[in-house]
Amino acid sequence: MESSSLVDPHEKSNVLSFSSAESAYIFMAFVFIIVIATLWSITLLFSSTLSKIKRASSQPTLPPGPSPWPVLGCVPEMWRNRPAYKWVHRLMQQLDTDIACVRLGNTHVIAVSNPELAREFLKKHDAVFASRPLTMATRILSHGYITTGVVPWGEQWKKMRRILMSDVFSHSRVAWLLRKRTEEADNLVRFLYNQSLQSATIINGAAGVVNVRTATQQYSVGVMRRMMFDKRFFGKGRDDGGPGQEEEEHVGALFTMLLHVYAFCVSDYLPWLRWLDLDGHQKTVSEAMKVINKYQDPIVNDRIRLWRDGMRKEPEDLLDVFISLKDSDGNPLLSDEEVRAQVTADLRFISFTTGRRGCIGVGLGSNVTVMLLGRLVQGFTWSIPQGMEKIDLSEAKSLFKATPLYAHAKPRLNPCVYFSLLKSMS
Ligand code: HEM
Ligand SMILES: *[C@@H]1O[C@H](CO)[C@@H](O)[C@H](O)[C@H]1NC(C)=O
Ligand SMILES: *[C@@H]1O[C@H](CO)[C@@H](O)[C@H](O)[C@H]1NC(C)=O
Repeated sequence: MESSSLVDPHEKSNVLSFSSAESAYIFMAFVFIIVIATLWSITLLFSSTLSKIKRASSQPTLPPGPSPWPVLGCVPEMWRNRPAYKWVHRLMQQLDTDIACVRLGNTHVIAVSNPELAREFLKKHDAVFASRPLTMATRILSHGYITTGVVPWGEQWKKMRRILMSDVFSHSRVAWLLRKRTEEADNLVRFLYNQSLQSATIINGAAGVVNVRTATQQYSVGVMRRMMFDKRFFGKGRDDGGPGQEEEEHVGALFTMLLHVYAFCVSDYLPWLRWLDLDGHQKTVSEAMKVINKYQDPIVNDRIRLWRDGMRKEPEDLLDVFISLKDSDGNPLLSDEEVRAQVTADLRFISFTTGRRGCIGVGLGSNVTVMLLGRLVQGFTWSIPQGMEKIDLSEAKSLFKATPLYAHAKPRLNPCVYFSLLKSMS
């Protein structure tokens, strides 16, 4: 107050009034600033939350699909609507979408039904999708993931893929195996010729009717068997070039295996149910693998011994190639177990794909397939069997047609051509 006594009251009051006006002003400014600041921070907070929400929503959402149960996901629906791939396909048609997400257990299964999108997964983003899931069937098939085909991305896959690409299925190697493939193609024609003449193959009263499924499956595996083991038959075979009981069992097991690789298997998504083997896949796959090993392992083991004892020095088939591969220090590239496993992985037949997990056997596979079609068309005139209205194209609950293709085969070349094949076989 001393200072105020020095101040003229008017002035003082002025000052006071000024100062009170000022303080009111300052106060108001303060309030204003606080309000603004509060508003600002609220806005900031709000907008950051908003942008967070926005970011979350601009982060691509999962593709549409059925709402999953807790823990189980959509496994109950999948189970009720087997086969699962048909259910997923129907679902996508209902949702009118080319991409869908079905949660099975903890796994988001993304299904794609359009070639453009499929190419994005397999080619454009193949680095992202270069791995393969761990499943019951693939673990058994790959002897614990030491092969190439179904193996998760990693050092083992890189090693095996590199070896197959550069050392095993090169251009020159495919050419080297031509003679073996030709022998099997001759064999196929011989078998079909025999059937086309046999009255024993009468179906619906027509002679010369051929089960094309059996013939082509046996040819496909026969070619691989010949290239891999330089062997036509595991047992005695048949005089007409057809499969013996051993070959039928071997081919049956391979196709069983093929149908179960990446088939929807409940315990792949709910591992705690594995002991129940609800769909029976584990039993089926283990038994098929036993059959395959029963025929192949003795051959592989004997051959490994031949090389070890120095009884063989030059590769004569793919098995020899696998066994004799050496690294730069002269050590074997593949272990015995890797040889045994790889021999099975390569006896696989479906459509080729693309990208870094694409089929390494495209050249060989199409060569074998084109040769098959060539021989079928060159050697025979094909028609619908007498008394059959049309070919039944309906699907089975698998990748196969519901019924095998039966067709009438009429030889169209000079008989001496077929006889020359008979002679070269004996
Ligand atoms: C018509 C014959 C063939 C078809 C239709 C075919 C089809 C396929 C398909 C669809 C894949 C991709 C599998 C995946 O995405 O995981 C594949 C991979 C593979 N194929 Fe073939 N294949 C055929 C013949 C062959 C042959 C003759 C060989 C070897 C001798 C072979 C060796 C492989 C290998 C090693 C892979 C695994 C590649 C990898 O995962 O890195 N295929 N094949
Ligand atoms: C298959 O491979 C052989 C040897 O490399 C080649 O001479 C032949 O033309 C090929 N055939 C087809 C149909 O690609
Ligand atoms: C056809 O095969 C049978 C054995 O399955 C044989 O007895 C018969 O001689 C063969 N016929 C011809 C024409 O090759």
